[in-house]
Amino acid sequence: MPMEKKGNLLEIKNLTVEAAGRVILKDVILSIPRGEVAILFGPNGSGKSTLIKAIMGFSGYNITGGEIIFAGQKINSMSIEQRVKLGIGLMYQHPPKIRGVKLEQVARFLSRDTKKIKELSNELSLSEHLSRDLNLDFSGGEMKRSELFQIILQDPQLLLLDEPESGVDLENISTMGSVLNEYLKKEGKSALIITHTGYILDYIKAKRGCVMIGGKLWCVGNPKEMFGEIRKFGYEKCKECHEPQRIG
Ligand SMILES: Nc1ncnc2c1ncn2[C@@H]1O[C@H](COP(=O)(O)OP(=O)(O)O)[C@@H](O)[C@H]1O
Ligand SMILES: [Mg+2]
Repeated sequence: MPMEKKGNLLEIKNLTVEAAGRVILKDVILSIPRGEVAILFGPNGSGKSTLIKAIMGFSGYNITGGEIIFAGQKINSMSIEQRVKLGIGLMYQHPPKIRGVKLEQVARFLSRDTKKIKELSNELSLSEHLSRDLNLDFSGGEMKRSELFQIILQDPQLLLLDEPESGVDLENISTMGSVLNEYLKKEGKSALIITHTGYILDYIKAKRGCVMIGGKLWCVGNPKEMFGEIRKFGYEKCKECHEPQRIG
């Protein structure tokens, strides 16, 4: 069994992933130390969500090369359930809507701490949503808050957040950002956060910024500086300035 490189909760080595017979990710290298947050940028369709789905173990995403190592264990062929039990949690970009299943039922399944459910639902302005069907007719922002609510109740070691702030208004981004930041810091969690708007960077302290372009990953350090460069010069320029990721 491969050993966990000192301090790294997640290690991805030369990962190649295919979907529907097409190569989507090529030779991706990424490591996330315990207690650290990595931010993932990249244009639409570059493979960001695919990376998260491959880490989570979604069917239809075939690993044809490389390794995903979580907490020292190779997880390439584990089921989603096994990965969840090991401590990986996902906040969807497009969460499913489930008729007949109340948000409160999901919350109670994820946590026995009724006080925490009450407090957190209050903080995220979701108290009235607890009695509603999961995500059904929720607005974009409500759905994202409900996803954040669920992942914090699940309390994984590694949080995979796929565009947590998309479709959320500024006031709620501020609420979500603060709740998330406090949780990550207090509990010493690791996270991989995909962002388009960069708003989340105002709330989360992250050392590592990466950009995905055409299924390849470049990681270059300070996410805020990097986002500034991307805004000024675009994604392609980012690639010209840096070698594919070799830090970690
Ligand atoms: N299940 C799939 N079957 C076929 N193609 C897919 C599948 N999932 C993703 N893709 C394709 O892979 C590329 C990357 O998608 P995605 O990872 O969702 O991009 P991003 O999240 O960066 O916008 C896109 O061209 C998308 O159409
Ligand atoms: Mg995506």
